[in-house]
Amino acid sequence: MTTRISRRDFAKVAALSSVGLAGCGRSQSNEAAANAARTASPPPQRSGAFPQGFFWGVATSAYQIEGAWNEDGKGPSIWDTYAHTPGNIANGDTGDVANDHYHRYKEDVALMKDIGATAYRFSISWPRIFPQGTGKPNPKGLDFYSRLVDELKAAGIEPFATLYHWDLPQALHDKGGWQSRDTAQAFAEYAGHIAEKLSDRIRHFFTINEFRSFTEAGYKGFEIPAPGGTRTVFLAPGLKLPAQEFHQVCHHTVLAHGLAVQAIRAKGRQGTKIGPAENIEVAVPLIERPEHIKAAEAATRELNAPYLTVMLEGRYTDEYLKQTGKDGPKFTDEDMKIIASPLDFVGINVYTAKTFVLASDQTPGWREVGFSKGHAKAAISNVPLGPTSIYWAPKFVQSLWKAKEIYVTENGCAGEDVLADDGQVYDTERITFLQTYLTQLQRATADGVPVKGYFHWSMMDNFEWTRGYGNRYGMVYVDFKTQKRTPKMSAHWFRETAKQNAVV
Ligand code: FCB
Repeated sequence: MTTRISRRDFAKVAALSSVGLAGCGRSQSNEAAANAARTASPPPQRSGAFPQGFFWGVATSAYQIEGAWNEDGKGPSIWDTYAHTPGNIANGDTGDVANDHYHRYKEDVALMKDIGATAYRFSISWPRIFPQGTGKPNPKGLDFYSRLVDELKAAGIEPFATLYHWDLPQALHDKGGWQSRDTAQAFAEYAGHIAEKLSDRIRHFFTINEFRSFTEAGYKGFEIPAPGGTRTVFLAPGLKLPAQEFHQVCHHTVLAHGLAVQAIRAKGRQGTKIGPAENIEVAVPLIERPEHIKAAEAATRELNAPYLTVMLEGRYTDEYLKQTGKDGPKFTDEDMKIIASPLDFVGINVYTAKTFVLASDQTPGWREVGFSKGHAKAAISNVPLGPTSIYWAPKFVQSLWKAKEIYVTENGCAGEDVLADDGQVYDTERITFLQTYLTQLQRATADGVPVKGYFHWSMMDNFEWTRGYGNRYGMVYVDFKTQKRTPKMSAHWFRETAKQNAVV
């Protein structure tokens, strides 16, 4: 294993180590089993169903799958630059070709249909639409997404578009990037343009994906333990800004979100729905008793202070302002109103819990318990498993902020997936992960939490940022040499679960 460690190594659950991978799929597995999994008639509707009309979605992002990095007038993004810089990505991988989805999108939509997806969350590459970030749009860029949306609609798959999944136009970065307030304005103009052109067919837009991830890893770096001390892990553009500049970057991203919400409302069709897709940090009560639940809820609100909390409350928490002090973000009252522009839904990416929590007599009223040494961990990433996070995250989004609708916009795990001798991929750890997590999500819906859909990360293996092609998160296996796609066993499981609208 490479010594390069992505943020998923410490922030995400990749797989259940207890399941074990050795010999996976080599015993009685065969083609017949795979076919049986596809064709068996469904048992009667089981208890524990999800609400009617629940979206069973799959997710991807532009840089991670499209390739065609410099085709049809696309401008470079900070990810093109970052990946082209030697030493940044495992094995020197880049997204230049990735899954070649730009040319194979029809095949990929057919695959989505085949695995039973009823919704698809993809991202739009800003520099494909505005090669310079602002100014003159590139019609060929828009045309690609227009064709993709038509293909999805024809397949009966609902398109959900993310406007920013980290691929900032390099031209804007060169002019100050997210350190500059102008980037927030430019983002709103781009968002308005997309809404004007595509909201006739796209009803749901996510503004920005994972504010926390790309600001913290891109503009500050994560310190993680490493042999002989610690090391810093980055995402593009790989900056290590002083504290005040960093907090200003965070502020500009939530401001960009608010401005984009307003621009979409102004330019999009009536009824277009908008929300963020944030990797909420969720504190989970270690014991389900009222005092611990209350403590975990308060901790969750504080943990998300510069992101979800400010977007949904229109103010930074006192604690956040106290902690950041003179290095805190500079802002106006008007900024706060924009940031808190009313939303139609809240999208949350949930991979694991941030921490377990117990109530405490001491301020702030909770204490973090963390994870014990022997806690079940992901086989690859060594990250603790936290299935109740996907119960508590939507619960708290509802109880804290009264969200009208909630989507789980990402959840999944990376596995050491291998093609077995019979050509199948028996990813038992992913199926177990999904069964465990989705049972908890169903529990939230049964409690009346308005979760409207689930998007699995990812539809297919792809370019996993600094990990390159090393971390396979897909339900479809991709041979990156031949571009052959093979649905894994989890894809067959997903089809059945989507069909029954209940965990199978
Ligand atoms: C999320 C990212 C997504 C993918 C998954 C594994 O944090 O939004 O692009 O990398 O993790």
